[in-house]
Order: sequence, then structure tokens, then C-alpha cells
Amino acid sequence: MYDAGKIIIGLVIFVVFLTFAFWMDAGKAVPPPKPKLNTPVIMKMPKAERKCVESKEFMRTEHMQLLDTWRNEALREGNTEYINTNGKMYIVSLQNTCMKCHSNKKDFCDKCHDYAGVKPYCWRCHFVKGQMKNWE
Ligand code: HEC
Ligand code: HEC
Ligand code: HEC
Repeated sequence: MYDAGKIIIGLVIFVVFLTFAFWMDAGKAVPPPKPKLNTPVIMKMPKAERKCVESKEFMRTEHMQLLDTWRNEALREGNTEYINTNGKMYIVSLQNTCMKCHSNKKDFCDKCHDYAGVKPYCWRCHFVKGQMKNWE
């Protein structure tokens, strides 16, 4: 009546089919992208001063919180200056500060976000210089 072998093979195919998307992801094995830092503004900085507003390690893990703080400070407190841990002052602005140095949004922010699977919605309203509009 039953052909156990066929049923098992059928089940295996079924399970592989169900988890196909997962295997495809696992098979990707794409190394994390190396965010490109070779923008004109960054290249113009003396090598020893090629720094972000905070340390690279901090920026890597905390830039979303920092941006959130910046936005709240700017909009709620009207505070448009940010003093970093080394006492250096930056103007609180996504477009005019972050994106002035990181003008290569596609090779920097986007690349990393695509890899991490996040899609910040900021670009519906904020622009990157040189791009007329940027509907994500
Ligand atoms: C619905 C439109 C909209 C979206 C979406 C949006 N913003 Fe804004 N944001 C604004 C407006 C309007 C201002 C006020 C601009 C000004 O005062 O010049 C502002 C101001 C800011 C400021 C402070 C001033 C400046 O020029 O940067 C920061 C920082 C900021 N937003 C970050 C973000 C981040 C990060 C995101 C995504 C997580 C985001 N915004 C999404 C509309 C938006
Ligand atoms: C004055 C130019 C400048 C400004 C302004 C700037 N950055 Fe950076 N950013 C850099 C440089 C240079 C590095 C690499 C730092 C290093 O290698 O030590 C960097 C690194 C980073 C990193 C880590 C990249 C990695 O390799 O993991 C993130 C994330 C980042 N920046 C986001 C931001 C955000 C968000 C803002 C605005 C709040 C901002 N940056 C403002 C120049 C800048
Ligand atoms: C080194 C990789 C990397 C780079 C470069 C990077 N990001 Fe991110 N970003 C992330 C990761 C990972 C998250 C999600 C973190 C989380 O969910 O806790 C994130 C989240 C965010 C968020 C919050 C989005 C949300 O929906 O919560 C904002 C805003 C943001 N990034 C802005 C930027 C901007 C602007 C740049 C370019 C100047 C940038 N990021 C560059 C890795 C990066």
C-alpha cells in the first residue's frame, strides 16, 4: 500500500522547499560590507584627523541613537550644536553634517543597511546633496 521510501523522499523535498528561502540566505555567505570612506570631504581631511563625530566603534553601534538624540535636541530643544567626547563641536544636522562627509550614501549607509536588513525612512524628507530627490 504505502511506499515508505517515496513518502520520505517526498517529505524531504517538501521540507527543503519550505525552507528554501532560509537555505538561500545561509548560502549567501556574503561578508559584511566595508563601508567606503573615500568621499571628497573625507579624503581632504589630514589622515590623522579622519575621524567621525565620535569613535568608529561608537558610531558603528550607536549612530542610530545619536541621530535620534540629534533630532530631538534640534527639534525640541533648539540645540543645534553637538560637543563630542573630545570637545569638538559639530552642527547638529543629518544633511549638512553626516552627509557632507558621507556623501556616498549608496556605498556607505545603504550598503550596510541592505546587509543588515534595515531601511531607515529618513530619506523621504532628508536629501543627500547633489541628489534632487531620494525616495528611498
Ligand atoms: C516626515 C519627514 C521627515 C522624516 C521621515 C525624517 N525627518 Fe528629520 N527632520 C524633518 C524636518 C522637517 C526637520 C526640521 C528641519 C529644519 O529645521 O531645518 C528635521 C530635522 C532633523 C534633524 C535635525 C536638523 C537637521 O537638519 O538634520 C535630524 C538630526 C533629523 N531630522 C534626523 C532624522 C532621521 C535620523 C530620520 C530617520 C530616522 C529623519 N530625520 C526622518 C523631517 C523628517
Ligand atoms: C567630519 C567628517 C564626518 C562626519 C561629519 C561624520 N562622519 Fe561618520 N565617519 C567619518 C570617518 C572619517 C569615519 C571612519 C572613522 C575611522 O576610521 O576611525 C566615519 C565612520 C562612520 C561610521 C562607522 C563606519 C564603519 O566602518 O563601521 C558610521 C556608522 C558613521 N561614520 C556614521 C555617521 C553619521 C550617522 C554621522 C552624523 C551623525 C557621521 N557619520 C558624521 C567621517 C565623518
Ligand atoms: C557599519 C554599518 C552601517 C553604516 C555604515 C551605517 N549604518 Fe545605519 N544602521 C546600521 C544597523 C546595523 C542598523 C540597525 C540597528 C538596530 O536595529 O539596532 C542601522 C540603523 C540606522 C538607523 C535607524 C533605523 C531604524 O529604522 O531604526 C538610522 C537612522 C541610520 N542607521 C542612519 C544611518 C546613516 C545616515 C548612515 C550613513 C551616514 C548610516 N546609518 C550608516 C548599520 C550601519
